[in-house]
Amino acid sequence: MFGYDIGISGGVTSMDDFLKMFFPAILKGVSLLDRKPTIGLASILFILGAIVSGLAPNKALLIIGRILFGIGVGFGNESVPLFLSEVAPMQHRGAVNILFQFFVTIGILVANLVNYAVSSTHPNGWRIALGLAGVPAVFLFIGSLIISETPSSLIERGKEFEGKEALRKIRGLDDVESELEQIKLACEIARQVKHPYKKLFKRASMPPLIIGRSVQVFQQFTGINAIMFYAPVLFQTVGFKSDSSLLSAVITAIVNVLSTIVSIVAVDRVGRRKLLLQACMQMFISMVAIGSILLTHLKPTGSLDKGLAAVVVVLVCLFVMSFAWSWGPMGWLIPSETFPLETRTTGFAFAVSANMLFTFIIAQAFLSMSCNMRAYIFFFFAIQILIMGLFVVFLLPETKGVPIDCMTERVWKKHPVWKKFMGKEVVKNYEMT
Ligand code: BGC
Repeated sequence: MFGYDIGISGGVTSMDDFLKMFFPAILKGVSLLDRKPTIGLASILFILGAIVSGLAPNKALLIIGRILFGIGVGFGNESVPLFLSEVAPMQHRGAVNILFQFFVTIGILVANLVNYAVSSTHPNGWRIALGLAGVPAVFLFIGSLIISETPSSLIERGKEFEGKEALRKIRGLDDVESELEQIKLACEIARQVKHPYKKLFKRASMPPLIIGRSVQVFQQFTGINAIMFYAPVLFQTVGFKSDSSLLSAVITAIVNVLSTIVSIVAVDRVGRRKLLLQACMQMFISMVAIGSILLTHLKPTGSLDKGLAAVVVVLVCLFVMSFAWSWGPMGWLIPSETFPLETRTTGFAFAVSANMLFTFIIAQAFLSMSCNMRAYIFFFFAIQILIMGLFVVFLLPETKGVPIDCMTERVWKKHPVWKKFMGKEVVKNYEMT
C-alpha cells in the first residue's frame, strides 16, 4: 500500500486530465494562490491556533492548536519572504527581505519576556503565553488586507494592467517600463512551464535548488536553535540560578534583535557572501571556545567558576550576534531571490520545508546528543560551521544588486561550477523573447 501510494502520487499529479479537473490553474502554468491570500490564510490559521491552544481543556486540543500554529507558520514562512523579495527595489532587496528575520527576532524576544513574566502566574500563565501568540497574527492579518499583490504574481496571472499599477505604486514612480519588461519576460518563460514540480528537478533548476536548500539546512546546523531553545539550560549548567538563567536568555534574544539591524544596513553594501564568511569565523571561534571551557573547567557537580561562567555568556552572545547578521537572515533571503519565477514558489517551498525539518531534528536530537557528547557537541557544530564556510567560498554566488528576474542569466550562467548545469532549454527560452 505504502509503495503504491508513493508511486502513484507523482504520476497522477502530472496527468493533464487530473489537473484539469482539480487544479486547472496549475495546467495554465500558474501556482495556486497569490502571495497576498496566502499571507492572510497564514494569519487566520495562526489566530485559530492561539485560540484553540490557549483555551485547550485537554491534550488533544492542545496538539490541534500546535498543528494550526505549525500550518500558519509554514504558510507565512513560505509567502512573506517571497513577497518581500518580489516587491523590494533591487538595490535594497536584501534589507527589505531581512525585515522578515528582524521581526522573527522580535517575536523570539517578546516570547522570552512573556515566558519570564508569566512563569509565576499560576495556574494559567501558560494559557496567557500561548494565547498571546494571536497578537502578531492579528497584525499580519490586517497587513494582508492592506498590501498590494506583487507585480510578478499579478502579471503571471495575466493581469498586466494591475501588475503595472502595483509596480508604480510600490516604486512611487511613473516610469517603470524597464522593470516591467523584465517581469513580463520572466512571466512569459514561467507560463511555458506547466509542471513547476517536474521543472524543479530538471538539471537546469539544480543550482538554485541545491543552494536554496543547503543555505536553509546549514542555517540549522550552525546550532542556533540548540542555543535558542536551551540557553536557559546551558546557563543553569554553568552555575546560574533558575531566574538569572531565564534573564540571560532574554539578553541573548536582545543581542539577536540588535545584530539583525547590522545585517539590514550591511547586506546590500558588502554583499551576502562576506557577511556569511565573517560570521563563520566568529561562530567557529565561539563554539570552539565554549566547548574548550566546558571540557576543561566544568566541575563534576556541573558548574563553572563565576568568571568563566560570565565568559561563556559572552561567547554565546558573540555566537548569536554573528548568526543574526548572517546565516539567520541569509537563510531566508538567498532562497527567496535565486529561483526564476517559474520555479520560485515551489523551489522556495522545498527550501523552507528543509529548514523546518532540520529545526525539528536538531531540537529533538540536541538533548540526547549533548548527554552523550557532552562538551564535544560544541565541536560538532564547529565542524559544521567550517563545512558551510567552504560551501560559501566555492559554491555560493553573490546575488547583491542583481534584479530578481535576471538571476539565471547574470548569476547561474556565469558561475564557474553552476554554469555547467544550465542547459540549452533555458538559453532557448531567453532567445525566444
Ligand atoms: C531561524 C530560526 C531561529 C531564528 C533565530 C531563524 O532564521 O530559521 O530557526 O530560531 O532565526 O533568530
